Amino acid sequence: MSDGVSLPDLTPLRDWFSSYCNSFRTADLEVQRNFDLKQEHTRNVCRDALLIAQGMGPRFEMLAEVAALCHDLGRFPQFRDYHTFKDSDSLNHAHLSAQVMKQHHLLDFLTDQERGCIEVAVRTHNAFQVPEGLPALTADLLRLLRDADKLDIWRVFTEYFNAPEAERASGAGLGFPDLPGCSAEPLAAVSAGNMVQLSTLKSLNDFKLLQVSWIYDINFAATFRLIRQRSVLEQFRAMLPRDREVLDVLAQVGRYLDEKLRDAAA
Ligand SMILES: [Fe+2]
Repeated sequence: MSDGVSLPDLTPLRDWFSSYCNSFRTADLEVQRNFDLKQEHTRNVCRDALLIAQGMGPRFEMLAEVAALCHDLGRFPQFRDYHTFKDSDSLNHAHLSAQVMKQHHLLDFLTDQERGCIEVAVRTHNAFQVPEGLPALTADLLRLLRDADKLDIWRVFTEYFNAPEAERASGAGLGFPDLPGCSAEPLAAVSAGNMVQLSTLKSLNDFKLLQVSWIYDINFAATFRLIRQRSVLEQFRAMLPRDREVLDVLAQVGRYLDEKLRDAAA
């Protein structure tokens, strides 16, 4: 880490991001809606990353914002070229984000070490789990980025689900069919205290369960507090079927959240 005396101004990077978004502008309203969604998402992930990083030092806060600003750069070419945000049907958007970052020399104003940490955090932010054996700064940035990303994906999905069908950004639901109930495999995963694997999903309700199970992957006390403040679990409860098994796993996740909030307060 550098001395922290001269904190770089992120204005040029923020401006670059705006012009990058503008470079994808299209008259196709449906495609543009998905670009807008990712631009707004990035703005919110930056805000939430800063909320979580508060008190961890100005240099770290700056790096958190840089990671957040760059994490989804790959979403734009992904949607332009494949019309989906589903990596398994297109490409790994996080790898593409890292590529875009390098191509445009976006991180040249950072130290080599910091640049390396952000590149790894961006490249792996969508991995099922945080890889082991990462240097401390990389691991911290990655965990923070994953928390901030989840916070805003919950917002995006809740808004998507509650919007009239004609106004929904098609990419947000990943194209899952809206079938009744939840499938056995995702239910079993949540009830075992695990995150749901994307490959086990059969429906939009399963996708909701997967997002609920992300609460098990949250790293920072500040994020747990934001989950409570924003009523994330309650919003998902309202969107899910009222089946016994579903209510049971939701209650279980609720107890986990309570416990984490108690730990955070202690
Ligand atoms: Fe994201």
